Amino acid sequence: MTTLTSPQQLPAAPAPGPRPALLLRPARTAARYAVRHGMPAVYLARAARRGDPVGRLLRDPAVRDEPYALHEQLRAAGPLVPSALGLVTASHAVTQEVLRSDAFGVGWDRSRVPGLVGWALRFGDELDASGVAEPPSMLVVDPPDHTRFRRLVSRAFTPRATAAFEPMIRRTADALLDDLSGAGGPVDLVDRYAAQLPVLVIAELLGVPTDRREDFLRWGAAAAATLDAGLPLRRYLAAERGLRAMHAFLRDHFDRLRRDPGDDLVSRLVGLPGEEALTERELHATVMLLLGAGFETTVNLLGNAVVALDGHRDQWAALREEPAGWANAVEEVLRYDSPVQLTGRTARTDVEVAGRRLPAGTRVTVLLGAANRDPDVFADPARFDVTRRNARDHLAFSGGVHYCLGAGLARLEAEVALRAVSERFPGLRVAGRPVRRDLRTLRGFEVLPVSLG
Ligand code: HEM
Repeated sequence: MTTLTSPQQLPAAPAPGPRPALLLRPARTAARYAVRHGMPAVYLARAARRGDPVGRLLRDPAVRDEPYALHEQLRAAGPLVPSALGLVTASHAVTQEVLRSDAFGVGWDRSRVPGLVGWALRFGDELDASGVAEPPSMLVVDPPDHTRFRRLVSRAFTPRATAAFEPMIRRTADALLDDLSGAGGPVDLVDRYAAQLPVLVIAELLGVPTDRREDFLRWGAAAAATLDAGLPLRRYLAAERGLRAMHAFLRDHFDRLRRDPGDDLVSRLVGLPGEEALTERELHATVMLLLGAGFETTVNLLGNAVVALDGHRDQWAALREEPAGWANAVEEVLRYDSPVQLTGRTARTDVEVAGRRLPAGTRVTVLLGAANRDPDVFADPARFDVTRRNARDHLAFSGGVHYCLGAGLARLEAEVALRAVSERFPGLRVAGRPVRRDLRTLRGFEVLPVSLG
């Protein structure tokens, strides 16, 4: 934590620039860490000790591995439950309503945060250390900026554009499985397959070099942690190193494309004319989000799927007999063990939700993973059933204007990847204890040992 005491004694924060003087860097990192993670960590740990539900969700190690019992306690407590971070909901109806409502937004004006915290946010603001959960990433900005960013990239993710990638996804999956065929003993399916496929696909789609994939995976794994509040210092520093490396790569890559543009999405983004042009910061935020969201989430879907299916071998066998069932099986995995567990919104105006009047500024944390097990929508919700008729009613891809841009791509990747691995290795079994990633917002496996049969 920084030892700064009074905002009045402090110099004005220097304007954020892409390359701050090296001497300033540690001070900026300290300021950033203190407000984004150090203070929240202390606050959330205290809340968790008091039994606060969101405190426990974000801090308690046992809840990280198994959040569903706590979700049920929250559900029993009502549709909107007070917590250390505003209100929290496990209800499908309320989650859907909040996500779709114009009265809620993702943004908040950091420039108006008063006092020392506001100063530290401004002082610590640095492009090269910024992650996907910081503006101007479209994930955390409201319309009209959100509409502008999303429109620029959505053409690459239309159903038609996505479908055109199917042969490439198949080829990539087959090549990875060819490599696995020779493996003697148990292999880590995350390392060798579930993590590799999404990064190769999104790199190809964005036109970034696939031979840097091990770098992306390393940087992305560290940076994914920044989606969670209250990181310990060491993990934050590792995440920041990942972010810096990613931004440095992107800067060089943009320079290359400006000199020698290709026929890809990123070339188009760097070359936007006149009024449409993105600032340097907007460009970094947009491409970093596409790249990171493209592989840091789908890996979790694939790992969660293999573990769920391994626990329900009869369903796995039925899918091999009837591969047309894979599309619905993917929906059921998204519902049953959601790769993105939570998000949040802030009321922009006074608004009524679930019969309660919420004043402007109220924060609502929506537990996507809990909404997806709401018995009002899903019969016997803790049962994994790949033939569930309404599995697709899940909210694993969020809702409203921020509905996942890559949902179609993720669905296609998962269907192709799971079908391919099941056909190639019908005797595949989890062999050893899978290890969960140490993350709260994202839910997936870090290590998944399997024997290939
Ligand atoms: C299983 C895989 C995936 C899951 C579960 C997932 C989930 C989500 C969720 C929950 C959100 C919205 C968060 C919120 O409302 O606050 C989101 C947004 C987004 N996702 Fe995905 N995602 C997945 C795969 C992908 C892929 C493959 C891409 C490809 C680039 C992608 C790109 C995005 C983008 C760009 C956004 C921001 C959209 C916006 O703010 O308008 N996602 N995703």
